[in-house]
Amino acid sequence: MSILIQNGTLICPEGPVRADLRVEGDKIVEIGPDLPAGDSRVLDAAGKLVFPGFIDTHTHFEMNKGTPRETVDGWASGTLAALAGGTTTVLDFAEPERGASLASALDVWHSRADGIASCHYGFHMTIKDWNPAIQRELADMDRAGVTSYKVYFAYDNMRVSDGTALEVVRAVGDRGGVVGCHCENGDLVTAGIAAQKAAGNLGPAAHPLSRPAVVEAEAVNRWLTIGELAGCPVNIVHLSTGRGLELVRAARERGQAAYVETCPQYLLLDDGKYRLPGFESAKFVLSPPLRSPEDQAALWAGLEAGEIDTIGTDHCSFHFHGVKELGREDFSQIPNGIPGVEHRPVLLYTAGVAAGRITVCRMMMLLSEQPAKLFGMYPRKGALTVGSDADIVIFDPGVRGRITAADQCQAVDYTPYEGFETRGRVEAVLLSGEVAVEGGQVVKTGRGRFVRRGPSQFWR
Ligand code: URP
Ligand code: ZN
Ligand code: ZN
Repeated sequence: MSILIQNGTLICPEGPVRADLRVEGDKIVEIGPDLPAGDSRVLDAAGKLVFPGFIDTHTHFEMNKGTPRETVDGWASGTLAALAGGTTTVLDFAEPERGASLASALDVWHSRADGIASCHYGFHMTIKDWNPAIQRELADMDRAGVTSYKVYFAYDNMRVSDGTALEVVRAVGDRGGVVGCHCENGDLVTAGIAAQKAAGNLGPAAHPLSRPAVVEAEAVNRWLTIGELAGCPVNIVHLSTGRGLELVRAARERGQAAYVETCPQYLLLDDGKYRLPGFESAKFVLSPPLRSPEDQAALWAGLEAGEIDTIGTDHCSFHFHGVKELGREDFSQIPNGIPGVEHRPVLLYTAGVAAGRITVCRMMMLLSEQPAKLFGMYPRKGALTVGSDADIVIFDPGVRGRITAADQCQAVDYTPYEGFETRGRVEAVLLSGEVAVEGGQVVKTGRGRFVRRGPSQFWR
Protein backbone atom coordinates (compact mmCIF):
# COMPACT_ATOMS: atom_id res chain seq x y z
CA MET A 1 0.00 0.00 0.00
CA SER A 2 1.39 3.37 -1.03
CA ILE A 3 0.28 6.73 0.41
CA LEU A 4 1.19 10.19 -0.82
CA ILE A 5 0.99 13.05 1.69
CA GLN A 6 0.57 16.05 -0.58
CA ASN A 7 1.04 19.81 -0.09
CA GLY A 8 2.01 19.61 3.57
CA THR A 9 4.68 21.44 5.54
CA LEU A 10 7.22 18.90 6.75
CA ILE A 11 8.76 19.74 10.11
CA CYS A 12 12.46 19.05 9.75
CA PRO A 13 15.34 19.97 12.10
CA GLU A 14 16.59 22.73 9.82
CA GLY A 15 13.14 24.28 9.46
CA PRO A 16 9.70 23.70 7.92
CA VAL A 17 9.85 22.46 4.31
CA ARG A 18 7.01 22.48 1.77
CA ALA A 19 7.18 19.05 0.13
CA ASP A 20 5.25 15.89 -0.63
CA LEU A 21 6.09 12.62 1.06
CA ARG A 22 5.45 9.10 -0.17
CA VAL A 23 5.09 6.03 2.00
CA GLU A 24 5.42 2.48 0.69
CA GLY A 25 4.70 -0.37 3.08
CA ASP A 26 5.97 0.74 6.47
CA LYS A 27 8.71 3.11 5.25
CA ILE A 28 9.07 6.62 3.88
CA VAL A 29 10.32 6.11 0.32
CA GLU A 30 10.28 9.51 -1.36
CA ILE A 31 10.27 13.18 -0.37
CA GLY A 32 10.20 16.09 -2.79
CA PRO A 33 8.15 18.82 -4.45
CA ASP A 34 5.17 17.91 -6.62
CA LEU A 35 5.47 14.14 -6.47
CA PRO A 36 3.12 12.40 -8.95
CA ALA A 37 0.22 10.59 -7.30
CA GLY A 38 0.48 7.52 -9.52
CA ASP A 39 -1.58 4.82 -7.83
CA SER A 40 -0.84 6.07 -4.31
CA ARG A 41 -3.71 6.95 -2.02
CA VAL A 42 -3.49 10.74 -1.60
CA LEU A 43 -3.82 12.51 1.75
CA ASP A 44 -4.14 16.25 1.22
CA ALA A 45 -2.13 18.06 3.88
CA ALA A 46 -2.50 21.61 2.49
CA GLY A 47 -2.28 24.06 5.39
CA LYS A 48 -1.20 21.26 7.74
CA LEU A 49 2.03 20.42 9.55
CA VAL A 50 3.60 17.01 9.00
CA PHE A 51 5.66 15.68 11.92
CA PRO A 52 7.61 12.49 12.51
CA GLY A 53 5.46 10.48 14.95
CA PHE A 54 5.76 11.73 18.51
CA ILE A 55 7.55 9.64 21.13
CA ASP A 56 6.46 9.67 24.78
CA THR A 57 9.56 8.86 26.82
CA HIS A 58 7.72 8.15 30.05
CA THR A 59 4.56 6.13 30.67
CA HIS A 60 3.35 3.73 33.36
CA PHE A 61 0.65 1.44 31.94
CA GLU A 62 -0.75 -1.28 34.20
CA MET A 63 1.42 -0.14 37.05
CA ASN A 64 0.80 -1.85 40.41
CA LYS A 65 -1.19 -4.49 38.53
CA GLY A 66 -3.46 -6.62 40.66
CA THR A 67 -3.49 -4.20 43.58
CA PRO A 68 -6.05 -1.58 44.67
CA ARG A 69 -3.56 0.98 43.39
CA GLU A 70 -3.43 -0.32 39.83
CA THR A 71 -3.33 2.40 37.18
CA VAL A 72 -6.49 2.70 35.09
CA ASP A 73 -4.90 2.94 31.68
CA GLY A 74 -3.54 -0.36 30.55
CA TRP A 75 -1.92 -1.22 27.26
CA ALA A 76 -5.22 -1.07 25.38
CA SER A 77 -6.61 2.30 26.47
CA GLY A 78 -3.22 3.91 27.16
CA THR A 79 -1.75 3.28 23.73
CA LEU A 80 -5.03 4.07 21.99
CA ALA A 81 -5.12 7.43 23.79
CA ALA A 82 -1.48 8.00 22.88
CA LEU A 83 -2.20 7.32 19.20
CA ALA A 84 -5.25 9.59 19.19
CA GLY A 85 -2.98 12.40 20.37
CA GLY A 86 -0.25 11.74 17.78
CA THR A 87 2.12 9.66 19.88
CA THR A 88 3.27 6.73 17.77
CA THR A 89 5.79 5.27 20.24
CA VAL A 90 5.72 5.10 24.03
CA LEU A 91 8.54 4.02 26.31
CA ASP A 92 7.04 2.41 29.39
CA PHE A 93 8.79 1.39 32.61
CA ALA A 94 9.11 -2.36 33.15
CA GLU A 95 9.45 -3.10 36.86
CA PRO A 96 10.84 -6.35 38.26
CA GLU A 97 9.47 -7.59 41.56
CA ARG A 98 11.97 -7.20 44.40
CA GLY A 99 14.55 -9.97 44.07
CA ALA A 100 13.39 -10.96 40.58
CA SER A 101 15.36 -10.94 37.33
CA LEU A 102 15.15 -8.26 34.65
CA ALA A 103 14.10 -11.01 32.22
CA SER A 104 11.02 -11.75 34.33
CA ALA A 105 9.89 -8.12 34.12
CA LEU A 106 10.56 -8.04 30.39
CA ASP A 107 8.41 -11.15 29.94
CA VAL A 108 5.58 -9.66 31.97
CA TRP A 109 5.66 -6.35 30.06
CA HIS A 110 5.69 -8.17 26.72
CA SER A 111 2.78 -10.35 27.79
CA ARG A 112 0.76 -7.24 28.60
CA ALA A 113 1.63 -5.16 25.54
CA ASP A 114 2.20 -7.57 22.63
CA GLY A 115 -0.80 -7.81 20.34
CA ILE A 116 -2.71 -5.28 22.46
CA ALA A 117 -0.92 -1.98 21.92
CA SER A 118 -2.29 0.46 19.39
CA CYS A 119 0.95 2.42 19.10
CA HIS A 120 4.54 1.19 19.02
CA TYR A 121 6.32 0.68 22.32
CA GLY A 122 9.61 0.01 24.01
CA PHE A 123 10.55 -0.57 27.63
CA HIS A 124 12.93 1.14 30.01
CA MET A 125 14.03 -1.31 32.71
CA THR A 126 13.75 -0.32 36.37
CA ILE A 127 16.67 -1.38 38.56
CA LYS A 128 15.65 -2.07 42.15
CA ASP A 129 18.21 -4.76 43.02
CA TRP A 130 21.82 -4.81 41.93
CA ASN A 131 24.01 -7.92 42.05
CA PRO A 132 26.29 -9.85 39.65
CA ALA A 133 23.36 -11.78 38.16
CA ILE A 134 21.44 -8.61 37.35
CA GLN A 135 24.58 -7.05 35.96
CA ARG A 136 25.07 -10.03 33.66
CA GLU A 137 21.52 -9.56 32.41
CA LEU A 138 22.40 -6.21 30.86
CA ALA A 139 23.81 -8.08 27.85
CA ASP A 140 20.53 -10.00 27.50
CA MET A 141 18.62 -6.71 27.69
CA ASP A 142 20.78 -5.27 24.89
CA ARG A 143 19.96 -8.27 22.73
CA ALA A 144 16.28 -7.86 23.60
CA GLY A 145 16.36 -4.19 22.51
CA VAL A 146 16.16 -2.67 25.98
CA THR A 147 18.98 -0.15 26.39
CA SER A 148 17.68 2.38 28.93
CA TYR A 149 17.11 2.09 32.67
CA LYS A 150 15.67 3.97 35.62
CA VAL A 151 16.72 4.12 39.23
CA TYR A 152 14.85 5.81 42.03
CA PHE A 153 16.23 7.90 44.88
CA ALA A 154 12.71 8.06 46.39
CA TYR A 155 9.95 5.57 47.32
CA ASP A 156 10.95 3.12 50.05
CA ASN A 157 10.13 0.03 47.96
CA MET A 158 12.14 1.20 44.96
CA ARG A 159 15.10 3.30 45.93
CA VAL A 160 18.72 2.38 45.54
CA SER A 161 21.80 3.54 47.44
CA ASP A 162 24.22 6.02 45.93
CA GLY A 163 26.83 3.27 45.60
CA THR A 164 24.41 1.09 43.65
CA ALA A 165 23.43 4.01 41.44
CA LEU A 166 27.10 4.60 40.62
CA GLU A 167 27.60 0.97 39.63
CA VAL A 168 24.46 0.96 37.48
CA VAL A 169 25.43 4.15 35.65
CA ARG A 170 28.90 2.73 34.96
CA ALA A 171 27.70 -0.67 33.83
CA VAL A 172 24.95 0.70 31.57
CA GLY A 173 27.08 3.61 30.33
CA ASP A 174 29.91 1.26 29.36
CA ARG A 175 27.45 -0.55 27.07
CA GLY A 176 26.28 2.70 25.46
CA GLY A 177 22.96 2.81 27.29
CA VAL A 178 21.53 5.51 29.51
CA VAL A 179 20.10 5.55 33.02
CA GLY A 180 17.41 7.99 34.15
CA CYS A 181 16.85 8.85 37.78
CA HIS A 182 13.86 9.84 39.86
CA CYS A 183 15.57 12.68 41.68
CA GLU A 184 14.03 13.21 45.10
CA ASN A 185 15.80 12.48 48.38
CA GLY A 186 13.83 9.53 49.82
CA ASP A 187 14.94 10.02 53.44
CA LEU A 188 13.99 13.68 53.39
CA VAL A 189 10.62 12.84 51.81
CA THR A 190 9.95 10.31 54.60
CA ALA A 191 10.88 12.94 57.18
CA GLY A 192 8.76 15.54 55.37
CA ILE A 193 5.70 13.29 55.39
CA ALA A 194 6.17 12.55 59.09
CA ALA A 195 6.52 16.27 59.87
CA GLN A 196 3.31 17.14 58.00
CA LYS A 197 1.38 14.40 59.77
CA ALA A 198 2.76 15.44 63.18
CA ALA A 199 1.51 18.95 62.47
CA GLY A 200 -1.93 17.54 61.71
CA ASN A 201 -1.73 18.30 57.99
CA LEU A 202 -3.43 15.28 56.46
CA GLY A 203 -5.00 16.73 53.31
CA PRO A 204 -3.50 16.77 49.79
CA ALA A 205 -2.12 20.29 50.36
CA ALA A 206 0.51 18.66 52.59
CA HIS A 207 1.90 16.63 49.67
CA PRO A 208 4.06 19.40 48.11
CA LEU A 209 5.11 20.63 51.56
CA SER A 210 6.48 17.17 52.36
CA ARG A 211 8.78 17.18 49.28
CA PRO A 212 9.80 20.77 48.48
CA ALA A 213 12.02 21.90 45.59
CA VAL A 214 15.23 21.55 47.60
CA VAL A 215 14.55 17.82 47.99
CA GLU A 216 14.71 17.50 44.21
CA ALA A 217 17.72 19.80 43.91
CA GLU A 218 19.73 17.74 46.40
CA ALA A 219 19.00 14.56 44.47
CA VAL A 220 19.78 16.16 41.09
CA ASN A 221 23.13 17.29 42.47
CA ARG A 222 23.84 13.79 43.77
CA TRP A 223 22.83 12.19 40.49
CA LEU A 224 25.08 14.55 38.54
CA THR A 225 27.92 13.75 40.95
CA ILE A 226 27.38 10.06 40.28
CA GLY A 227 27.43 10.65 36.53
CA GLU A 228 30.65 12.65 36.85
CA LEU A 229 32.33 9.95 38.93
CA ALA A 230 31.19 7.26 36.50
CA GLY A 231 32.27 9.31 33.51
CA CYS A 232 28.99 8.40 31.80
CA PRO A 233 25.99 10.41 30.58
CA VAL A 234 22.97 10.51 32.89
CA ASN A 235 19.33 11.40 32.32
CA ILE A 236 17.10 13.22 34.80
CA VAL A 237 13.47 12.24 34.39
CA HIS A 238 10.48 14.47 35.21
CA LEU A 239 12.56 17.50 36.25
CA SER A 240 10.27 19.96 38.00
CA THR A 241 12.40 22.80 39.38
CA GLY A 242 14.45 25.76 38.22
CA ARG A 243 17.02 24.85 40.89
CA GLY A 244 17.47 21.42 39.37
CA LEU A 245 17.94 22.94 35.93
CA GLU A 246 20.56 25.37 37.27
CA LEU A 247 22.55 22.41 38.58
CA VAL A 248 22.36 20.72 35.18
CA ARG A 249 23.51 23.91 33.48
CA ALA A 250 26.52 24.15 35.80
CA ALA A 251 27.42 20.50 35.23
CA ARG A 252 27.22 20.95 31.46
CA GLU A 253 29.42 24.03 31.70
CA ARG A 254 32.00 21.78 33.37
CA GLY A 255 31.76 19.47 30.37
CA GLN A 256 29.43 16.83 31.76
CA ALA A 257 26.91 14.99 29.57
CA ALA A 258 23.55 15.32 31.30
CA TYR A 259 20.11 14.97 29.71
CA VAL A 260 16.84 16.36 31.02
CA GLU A 261 13.22 15.34 30.63
CA THR A 262 10.39 17.48 31.90
CA CYS A 263 6.64 16.93 31.62
CA PRO A 264 3.67 19.03 30.47
CA GLN A 265 2.34 19.22 34.04
CA TYR A 266 5.44 21.10 35.23
CA LEU A 267 5.10 23.53 32.31
CA LEU A 268 1.34 24.13 32.48
CA LEU A 269 0.13 23.48 36.04
CA ASP A 270 1.45 24.98 39.25
CA ASP A 271 1.20 24.50 43.00
CA GLY A 272 -1.91 26.70 43.13
CA LYS A 273 -3.72 23.40 42.40
CA TYR A 274 -2.96 22.36 45.99
CA ARG A 275 -5.17 25.20 47.22
CA LEU A 276 -8.32 23.84 45.55
CA PRO A 277 -11.23 23.20 47.93
CA GLY A 278 -12.05 19.83 49.48
CA PHE A 279 -10.21 16.80 48.15
CA GLU A 280 -9.98 18.15 44.57
CA SER A 281 -6.20 18.70 44.92
CA ALA A 282 -5.71 14.93 45.08
CA LYS A 283 -6.08 14.96 41.28
CA PHE A 284 -2.71 16.73 41.21
CA VAL A 285 -0.82 14.53 43.65
CA LEU A 286 2.21 13.23 41.82
CA SER A 287 5.91 13.12 42.54
CA PRO A 288 7.74 15.38 42.19
CA PRO A 289 4.77 17.66 42.97
CA LEU A 290 3.64 20.66 40.94
CA ARG A 291 5.89 23.64 41.61
CA SER A 292 5.77 27.43 41.76
CA PRO A 293 5.10 29.75 38.81
CA GLU A 294 8.79 30.73 39.06
CA ASP A 295 9.84 27.11 38.51
CA GLN A 296 7.47 26.94 35.58
CA ALA A 297 9.03 30.07 34.04
CA ALA A 298 12.52 28.61 34.53
CA LEU A 299 11.52 25.40 32.73
CA TRP A 300 10.01 27.32 29.82
CA ALA A 301 13.21 29.37 29.58
CA GLY A 302 15.12 26.08 29.56
CA LEU A 303 12.96 24.78 26.72
CA GLU A 304 13.46 27.94 24.71
CA ALA A 305 17.22 27.77 25.26
CA GLY A 306 17.45 24.11 24.22
CA GLU A 307 18.49 23.01 27.71
CA ILE A 308 15.69 20.45 28.04
CA ASP A 309 15.98 17.42 25.82
CA THR A 310 12.71 15.50 26.02
CA ILE A 311 9.13 15.92 27.25
CA GLY A 312 7.50 12.76 28.57
CA THR A 313 4.13 12.64 30.25
CA ASP A 314 4.87 10.37 33.21
CA HIS A 315 1.36 9.14 32.42
CA CYS A 316 0.33 7.28 35.57
CA SER A 317 -3.43 7.41 35.77
CA PHE A 318 -5.48 6.65 38.86
CA HIS A 319 -9.23 7.16 39.02
CA PHE A 320 -10.10 10.07 41.27
CA HIS A 321 -13.17 8.23 42.56
CA GLY A 322 -12.28 5.23 44.64
CA VAL A 323 -8.50 5.25 44.03
CA LYS A 324 -7.10 8.73 44.71
CA GLU A 325 -9.75 8.63 47.43
CA LEU A 326 -7.77 5.93 49.26
CA GLY A 327 -5.91 8.91 50.71
CA ARG A 328 -8.90 10.95 51.88
CA GLU A 329 -7.83 10.70 55.52
CA ASP A 330 -4.07 10.73 54.90
CA PHE A 331 -2.38 12.44 51.94
CA SER A 332 0.54 9.98 52.00
CA GLN A 333 -1.89 7.24 50.95
CA ILE A 334 -2.99 9.04 47.76
CA PRO A 335 -1.53 7.09 44.81
CA ASN A 336 1.04 9.32 43.10
CA GLY A 337 0.62 10.13 39.46
CA ILE A 338 -1.47 11.93 36.84
CA PRO A 339 -2.64 11.18 33.28
CA GLY A 340 -1.55 12.98 30.12
CA VAL A 341 -0.43 10.60 27.36
CA GLU A 342 -3.22 11.74 25.03
CA HIS A 343 -2.73 15.49 25.33
CA ARG A 344 1.03 16.16 25.37
CA PRO A 345 1.43 17.18 21.67
CA VAL A 346 -1.54 19.53 21.57
CA LEU A 347 -0.58 21.04 24.92
CA LEU A 348 2.94 21.73 23.73
CA TYR A 349 1.70 23.12 20.43
CA THR A 350 -0.79 25.38 22.23
CA ALA A 351 1.34 26.66 25.09
CA GLY A 352 4.66 26.48 23.25
CA VAL A 353 4.31 27.04 19.51
CA ALA A 354 1.02 28.95 19.20
CA ALA A 355 1.97 31.09 22.22
CA GLY A 356 5.24 32.03 20.49
CA ARG A 357 7.52 30.47 23.10
CA ILE A 358 9.13 27.79 20.97
CA THR A 359 9.36 27.12 17.26
CA VAL A 360 7.54 24.23 15.65
CA CYS A 361 10.98 22.72 14.90
CA ARG A 362 11.88 22.81 18.59
CA MET A 363 8.59 21.04 19.31
CA MET A 364 9.54 18.33 16.82
CA MET A 365 12.98 17.98 18.37
CA LEU A 366 11.52 17.67 21.88
CA LEU A 367 8.79 15.20 20.98
CA SER A 368 10.37 13.20 18.16
CA GLU A 369 14.01 13.63 17.20
CA GLN A 370 15.72 13.92 20.58
CA PRO A 371 13.80 11.08 22.27
CA ALA A 372 14.65 8.89 19.27
CA LYS A 373 18.34 9.75 19.58
CA LEU A 374 18.62 9.49 23.35
CA PHE A 375 16.85 6.14 23.36
CA GLY A 376 18.55 4.54 20.38
CA MET A 377 15.87 4.67 17.67
CA TYR A 378 17.14 7.38 15.32
CA PRO A 379 16.65 7.83 12.34
CA ARG A 380 14.33 4.86 12.15
CA LYS A 381 12.04 6.91 14.39
CA GLY A 382 12.07 10.67 15.02
CA ALA A 383 12.76 11.83 11.46
CA LEU A 384 11.02 12.43 8.17
CA THR A 385 13.72 10.97 5.95
CA VAL A 386 13.74 8.38 3.20
CA GLY A 387 14.16 4.99 4.86
CA SER A 388 12.63 6.05 8.19
CA ASP A 389 9.61 4.24 9.58
CA ALA A 390 6.37 5.72 8.27
CA ASP A 391 5.10 6.87 11.67
CA ILE A 392 3.73 10.28 10.71
CA VAL A 393 1.43 12.89 12.24
CA ILE A 394 -0.62 15.32 10.15
CA PHE A 395 -1.47 18.23 12.42
CA ASP A 396 -3.98 20.95 11.60
CA PRO A 397 -2.84 24.16 13.32
CA GLY A 398 -6.08 25.97 12.52
CA VAL A 399 -8.47 23.96 14.69
CA ARG A 400 -9.40 25.20 18.17
CA GLY A 401 -10.65 22.88 20.88
CA ARG A 402 -11.05 22.26 24.58
CA ILE A 403 -9.76 19.35 26.65
CA THR A 404 -12.36 17.58 28.70
CA ALA A 405 -12.53 14.21 30.38
CA ALA A 406 -15.86 13.52 28.69
CA ASP A 407 -14.16 13.47 25.27
CA GLN A 408 -10.90 11.73 26.06
CA CYS A 409 -9.74 8.26 25.01
CA GLN A 410 -7.85 7.83 28.29
CA ALA A 411 -9.90 5.53 30.52
CA VAL A 412 -9.30 7.54 33.68
CA ASP A 413 -12.19 9.49 35.20
CA TYR A 414 -10.62 12.96 35.03
CA THR A 415 -7.99 15.03 33.24
CA PRO A 416 -5.75 17.53 35.03
CA TYR A 417 -6.19 19.75 31.95
CA GLU A 418 -9.99 19.98 32.18
CA GLY A 419 -11.21 23.04 30.28
CA PHE A 420 -7.84 23.89 28.64
CA GLU A 421 -8.42 25.75 25.37
CA THR A 422 -6.27 24.16 22.69
CA ARG A 423 -4.82 25.28 19.38
CA GLY A 424 -4.35 22.71 16.66
CA ARG A 425 -5.48 19.12 16.36
CA VAL A 426 -4.01 15.81 15.31
CA GLU A 427 -5.88 15.20 12.08
CA ALA A 428 -4.33 11.95 10.89
CA VAL A 429 -1.67 9.49 12.03
CA LEU A 430 0.17 6.91 9.99
CA LEU A 431 1.52 4.04 12.04
CA SER A 432 4.02 1.94 10.09
CA GLY A 433 2.47 3.28 6.90
CA GLU A 434 -1.15 2.49 7.80
CA VAL A 435 -3.69 5.22 8.43
CA ALA A 436 -4.49 4.68 12.11
CA VAL A 437 -6.11 8.05 12.86
CA GLU A 438 -8.34 9.83 10.35
CA GLY A 439 -10.41 12.97 10.91
CA GLY A 440 -9.10 13.03 14.48
CA GLN A 441 -10.53 9.58 15.26
CA VAL A 442 -8.65 6.34 15.82
CA VAL A 443 -9.59 3.97 12.99
CA LYS A 444 -7.10 1.16 13.53
CA THR A 445 -6.24 -0.43 16.85
CA GLY A 446 -3.89 -3.13 18.05
CA ARG A 447 -1.21 -2.50 15.39
CA GLY A 448 1.55 -1.42 17.78
CA ARG A 449 4.86 -3.31 17.63
CA PHE A 450 7.73 -3.62 20.06
CA VAL A 451 10.64 -1.36 19.13
CA ARG A 452 14.05 -2.99 19.58
CA ARG A 453 16.38 -0.17 20.47
CA GLY A 454 20.12 0.21 20.08
CA PRO A 455 22.64 2.22 22.08
CA SER A 456 21.93 5.87 22.85
CA GLN A 457 22.97 8.32 20.19
CA PHE A 458 24.22 11.05 22.51
CA TRP A 459 24.61 14.53 21.12
CA ARG A 460 25.74 16.36 24.28
O1 URP B 1 3.93 10.43 40.75
C1 URP B 1 4.48 9.79 39.86
N1 URP B 1 5.31 10.42 39.08
N2 URP B 1 4.24 8.49 39.70
C2 URP B 1 4.82 7.62 38.76
C3 URP B 1 6.10 7.02 39.20
C4 URP B 1 7.27 7.93 39.00
O2 URP B 1 7.87 8.38 39.95
O3 URP B 1 7.66 8.23 37.86
ZN1 ZN C 1 9.75 8.91 38.90
ZN1 ZN D 1 7.26 7.98 36.10
